[in-house]
Amino acid sequence: SQTGIYPESSTKTYSYRASIIKGSEGNLQNIEGSYLGPVIRVKKGDKVRVRYENQIPAESIVHWHGLHVSHENDGHPEHVISEGETYYYEFEVMNRAGTYWFHPHPHKHTGEQVYKGLAGLFIVSDKDEEKLNLPQGEYDIPVVIQDRTFNDNRQLQYLGDGEMDRMQGFLGEQILINGKIDNTLNLGANGKYRLRLLNGSNSRAYKLAWDHGEAITVLGVDGGLLKAPKRMPYLMLGPAQRIDVWLDLSQQSENSRIKLVHLPIPLEMMGGGMMNGGMMGNSSSNHLPYDTQFDILEIKVGASAENNAQLPGELSSFNTLAATDAINKNNPRTFTFAMGGMMKWTINGRIYNGTEVAEEETVKLDTTEIWRINNGNQFSSDSDDDSGMMGRGMHGNGGMMGGQGGMGNMMQMPHPVHIHQLQFNILNRKTEEVDQKLWELTKDGFINEGWQDSVYLLPGMQMDLIMRFEDFKGLFLYHCHNLEHEDMGMMRNFKIV
Ligand code: C2O
Ligand code: CU
Ligand code: CU
Repeated sequence: SQTGIYPESSTKTYSYRASIIKGSEGNLQNIEGSYLGPVIRVKKGDKVRVRYENQIPAESIVHWHGLHVSHENDGHPEHVISEGETYYYEFEVMNRAGTYWFHPHPHKHTGEQVYKGLAGLFIVSDKDEEKLNLPQGEYDIPVVIQDRTFNDNRQLQYLGDGEMDRMQGFLGEQILINGKIDNTLNLGANGKYRLRLLNGSNSRAYKLAWDHGEAITVLGVDGGLLKAPKRMPYLMLGPAQRIDVWLDLSQQSENSRIKLVHLPIPLEMMGGGMMNGGMMGNSSSNHLPYDTQFDILEIKVGASAENNAQLPGELSSFNTLAATDAINKNNPRTFTFAMGGMMKWTINGRIYNGTEVAEEETVKLDTTEIWRINNGNQFSSDSDDDSGMMGRGMHGNGGMMGGQGGMGNMMQMPHPVHIHQLQFNILNRKTEEVDQKLWELTKDGFINEGWQDSVYLLPGMQMDLIMRFEDFKGLFLYHCHNLEHEDMGMMRNFKIV
């Protein structure tokens, strides 16, 4: 047996049986030697049945992140099943071609279950995409990025005892790619590749760049291809976000190496002294610091073998939603993600409470709306910070929750916001309230184009998202995708009536 590399939980996992009941062949492919679930490949229009059997000693339910499905197929926590029970999903794939994924969604335990390996990719193709002749097969490569910590027995270790670790979200000590500790990708040939990046980390965001200094060519985002390739000096990839990237290795010689690295960003908010001697106990965390550079992925180039894929000048044509289409264009629905009192992460002051839906969380089928989401509105007015928000986190010491600095610092955490069941367009992103040093170092890594379902909301950031509620009535979730925040209740329902 291979002790030491795989998590204890890998012997007891979900079993997934996915089949296409009507449509393409589909295909279920496992990444060898990985703790992750399978890569499920389907076509738009396929009717899919998934038999999900829970073999873990805990309640769980699977959510299809990014897919436009009904309430019963969305993996709402109210549908959790116990060990030994089975849940059947049946839905038609209505989404555009793109990189979607799946993971558990039981309330309070999503973080732990995803951490221990319960996640996989759901890749959709469609006719429009096929025409583009993008890299396929061995040239179409998933890259699931996760940070993990191993204990002395070389088993996956989730959070320590410190309540602080939970408040900021799990941060690991090393990077795993596709559920493996070896983050080298041996690419068999030097042709042109499509890398499907997924940030499957519990709470960590990445600032990604090629170490040889070339721009990153982006093909697509959460909900599929952009209109045209977009070249970016670096990418900000928050939890749950996907970005498809074009990689041309045809000019690289055999055995050369290219690295994807994380570049330093000032998000090391609660590290160092903050943790020690605080009321909430010490942190055992020795996590990879945000403010240093580290390797994400090393690509080793194989022998010359030309594939003839060419980067298209145009990728996809689609109409985005316009503000004038929204029924609330002058009065956007506003959701504030913030700390609400001691040790509580809230949305508009509320935490998750089963199937509860507030009045302001009820929307109408067949309408288009603007949702204004913002991160911590109290931070500009209440903050008496004079040392710079990041500086305060770095140099604070002791009494985390006792001191004003500590509380203020906590409010200024990023929140990766995700909405279920639909893909939205981004109308705008307001950043005046964002720490200017942080913004300077991240602003060229955000993408506002295309269809998305998850955004990385920096402290002080405000975004207007436009979305349409179609096809399915019922309860769906929106939440912070920092999975520890989500588990602590930073999650709510919206109801389509
Ligand atoms: Cu990937 Cu409700 O989440
Ligand atoms: Cu989701
Ligand atoms: Cu959060």
